[in-house]
Amino acid sequence: MYQIAIMGFGTIGSGVYDIVAANADILKQKSGQEIGIRRILDLREFPGHPAEQLLTHSFEDILNDPEISLVVETMGGVEPAFTFEKQLLLAGRHVVTSNKELVEKKGAELFEAARAGGAHFYYEASVGGGIPIIRNLSDCIVADRIDEISGILNGTTNYILTQMTSGGVSYEEALVSALALGYAEKDPTADVEGLDAGRKIAILASMVLGEAVHLEDVTTEGITGLTSTDFSYARELNMSIKLVADARFEDGGVRAIVAPAMVPVSNALYEVSDVLNAVTVHGDMVDTLMFYGRGAGSHATASAVLADVVCAARGVSPACHGGWSGVHARILDPLEAVHANFIRVSGSIDGVYELIRIFGGGSPVSAKKKEEFGFVTPVMSEAEFREKTAQLDGFIKRIRVK
Ligand code: HSE
Repeated sequence: MYQIAIMGFGTIGSGVYDIVAANADILKQKSGQEIGIRRILDLREFPGHPAEQLLTHSFEDILNDPEISLVVETMGGVEPAFTFEKQLLLAGRHVVTSNKELVEKKGAELFEAARAGGAHFYYEASVGGGIPIIRNLSDCIVADRIDEISGILNGTTNYILTQMTSGGVSYEEALVSALALGYAEKDPTADVEGLDAGRKIAILASMVLGEAVHLEDVTTEGITGLTSTDFSYARELNMSIKLVADARFEDGGVRAIVAPAMVPVSNALYEVSDVLNAVTVHGDMVDTLMFYGRGAGSHATASAVLADVVCAARGVSPACHGGWSGVHARILDPLEAVHANFIRVSGSIDGVYELIRIFGGGSPVSAKKKEEFGFVTPVMSEAEFREKTAQLDGFIKRIRVK
């Protein structure tokens, strides 16, 4: 019997419990031994829950139990998760986490603690919910120079944007239902302001470079500034609006951004709806790969947690997932990012044609607002775009075009 403990019995931790109960036979077949949950750490009580007898409020009950080989951390946040995980790894216990904030901020220290303790640190569930993107990046796409990773990495915002696109649902209503479905973070600001997706793209970039990329290195813009008029323009242009995370790798460094983007119908991300996430990885040999699936939610994310548990129980490791050093990666200038932009401007149609001439191309579209038009600029650098818009009368907003 391979004994594990769970720290944090919320959405994901309880999903881990459910899967161990429902799919015990599959887990045994895949890992070669039975997986047993020996302890669950949580501050709360769960009276009447079948797992009630396993509950403890004391971390020491887990740390000091020699029967526990691996600990799943699904508490979220940096502390006390970091202190607990570090102690466990140094004591030779394997750790599996879904905690992207912790992996992004403290990943290098935890890999180091794992090495020092002769244990393994696994984090498949920290990016893309149920999508096995971490394992693919660390163990499969290993013969390529990766030059771009791009995609939809937050289920909550994709769910909200899909609801708003379909019409009839306000931002507030969609957010309430994302919370009820267990998609959003405890503080959904991290979702809607692009921080959660920023952490995830930082983790993927750290894996590619072998050096630490942090949230602060990622340019982030959330979805709170989007309005129904923006969605009307998107419909006119046959595009959808998505929160897109992009990391471009050049000269040993990375330029990463999370921001709303107009996605043309020809782009595969156009169809990625609801809580689904999709990640594309471009390598110089393999070309483009795409990974797609449920990016949030209890059982999808817990499925990724258990994939790591099985990996550890098989004893295959050593570095299912690898890691990165604490050296800060080279961060490239965001002003050198190159892309097209959708812009909204107020004024007459003649004025808009004049702007289109200044930007070097585009066709005006109207969302039936008085004296307001939009158009898509040619591809240009962010620096050039800012220079042109600085002198622009009537500029309302821009949304990058993917
Ligand atoms: N709040 C996150 C999301 C959960 O919506 O994607 C999964 O990391």
